[in-house]
Amino acid sequence: MTEQQWANGVSEKIKEKMKTVALRSRGKVPYTTVNGVFDDWTDKDICWWTNGFWGGMMWQLYHATKEEVYRENALELEEKLDRNLMRSAGMDHDSGFRWLPTAVANYRLHGDVASKNRGITAANDLAGRFNPAGNFIRAWNDDGDGSRAGWAIIDCMMNLPLLYWAYEELHDPRYLHIATRHADTAEKYFIRGDGSANHIVEFDPVTGQFVQTFGGQGVEVGSSWTRGQAWALYGFCLSHLHVKKVEGLEEQSERYLNTAKRVANYFIVNIPESGLIPVDFRQPADCAWEDSTAAAIAACGLLELEKCVHPKERHVYHDAAMKMLRALEEKRSRFDDGCDNILEKCTAAYHDKEHEFSIIYGDYYFIEAIWKLTGQELFIW
Ligand code: GLY
Repeated sequence: MTEQQWANGVSEKIKEKMKTVALRSRGKVPYTTVNGVFDDWTDKDICWWTNGFWGGMMWQLYHATKEEVYRENALELEEKLDRNLMRSAGMDHDSGFRWLPTAVANYRLHGDVASKNRGITAANDLAGRFNPAGNFIRAWNDDGDGSRAGWAIIDCMMNLPLLYWAYEELHDPRYLHIATRHADTAEKYFIRGDGSANHIVEFDPVTGQFVQTFGGQGVEVGSSWTRGQAWALYGFCLSHLHVKKVEGLEEQSERYLNTAKRVANYFIVNIPESGLIPVDFRQPADCAWEDSTAAAIAACGLLELEKCVHPKERHVYHDAAMKMLRALEEKRSRFDDGCDNILEKCTAAYHDKEHEFSIIYGDYYFIEAIWKLTGQELFIW
């Protein structure tokens, strides 16, 4: 079987399953499954950072099939997220994750004015989190005591495309400058010499001075939380793609590409023989957990990176992506409609009590990766 036949086959299995799942999940905002059934965060926490991914799945499936159920689910979710958009305490740096796969995707597909308004409102909030003292976007909120005012996290690289989109849409370079200044800071303080990435960096929010790093969702300070590596890999590649379009910023864009390659190279040499990705590349052997989301996200980043590098280098990134995707398909996927999720063995954080369950963004990025391979992708980021 050729690689293309394999990818087409996986795409068909996804479509077959998701038709049933989308119909029986109407009205939900899923995060994980309970006994195989999607939970619903509509009333549990409409401000949860992952609430946009179901919308992204729906738009990717709608784009590929034109089945109405996907569009209807996506529109319902987009409107529900207004409760989040209107709650300032519920807004954080993950606006890209919530409004790019929902409102902005809808706007890109249909030019809907209300959707554009949502996207710009979210971008304005994200831009408002920028701290000019340290040139970083503040990640999370606190109780108003300022204890997290200086925290930035590597995941934010994936939220910058909301600012690049606002820049392109409004032709207002303020959004561009905020995104690139944050990317420059991330390059300097998050990416280590060996190409691995810190999860959390704390700056003094008044002076902007570096204070310390935290292990965050990985094992410890200095370890390498794999989803964080994946966010860095894909995120720098996206900054490269967006900044490349800006006249005069070619050098900066090239620098982001090289950073993405450095992170990718580190990731690739650490992929285990099995192709299945641990929660942390430096986790102890006697307490080892897996994270399929990191595999799916990194595969998307590698497939995108493949298109940006010299033709002679492409196979390096392509083959690594394929190794992980084939492992996910063979060993960690459910294509039957007996459960709502596709991927198994996803983990939110190494030190959480629970590990290796289904998580919605794992499914989202798995679909995105398969869509990239089959030419069906709606570009979200
Ligand atoms: N953005 C948070 C996470 O990746 O878990």
